[in-house]
Amino acid sequence: MGLYSSHIFPYLMNQVMSNKAMTRSRAELLVSASGEIFEIGFGTGLNLKHYPSHVKKITTADVNAGMGKLAQRSIDASPIEVDNRVLNGEDLPLTDESFDTVVCTWTLCSIPNVEQALKELHRILKPGGQFLFVEHGLADNPKTQRMQHRVNPLWKLIGDGCHLNRNITELIQDHHFLLPDVQNFYMPGGPRFASYMYQGVATKG
Ligand SMILES: C[S@@+](CC[C@H](N)C(=O)[O-])C[C@H]1O[C@@H](n2cnc3c(N)ncnc32)[C@H](O)[C@@H]1O
Repeated sequence: MGLYSSHIFPYLMNQVMSNKAMTRSRAELLVSASGEIFEIGFGTGLNLKHYPSHVKKITTADVNAGMGKLAQRSIDASPIEVDNRVLNGEDLPLTDESFDTVVCTWTLCSIPNVEQALKELHRILKPGGQFLFVEHGLADNPKTQRMQHRVNPLWKLIGDGCHLNRNITELIQDHHFLLPDVQNFYMPGGPRFASYMYQGVATKG
């Protein structure tokens, strides 16, 4: 892992992803988190404040050990016990069907083999368990999509592997989740090509 990923990106990301609109989505999404909870792509721990008060413990993972310092700050400020591990979401040493809730916020864009990670997330979820997600991805119109495809190579460098043009609904449905409800919207405050959101709850049938 390079210097940018481990020492610069965590601070940039923490700043950019603390904005009002993202904070509102985190709060809306996490209202229904319950039971045994696993969060993938924990980053600097920006979701921690938004778990409901009945949540006492969560397990989290991020592949980037450089997130550790800021993540620890969030953990220290939280009443929730956090078992935070440095792990690759593509290969999770976690038991099958061991979580009621899997949380994923703006992370499916960054995982290199996102298909393999979704297989893993589906595997560790209990039958009937819920997959709570908010992600940015492929927009709803050809003009913005063309822009996304054009900017993607540069964006991946700046965003530490982040892709602009993944169709999150298709990815989730292709991995055997049931997806009755997904909200798509442009989040205010950023460039349109990076602002098309997919937010929802998928379940494991
Ligand atoms: C854009 S950040 C979002 C962080 C956090 N989820 C949030 O909402 O603030 C994406 C995160 O996914 C993590 N990530 C990328 N690839 C990963 C992988 N293969 N396994 C686990 N985490 C990964 C990155 O290190 C980063 O912390």
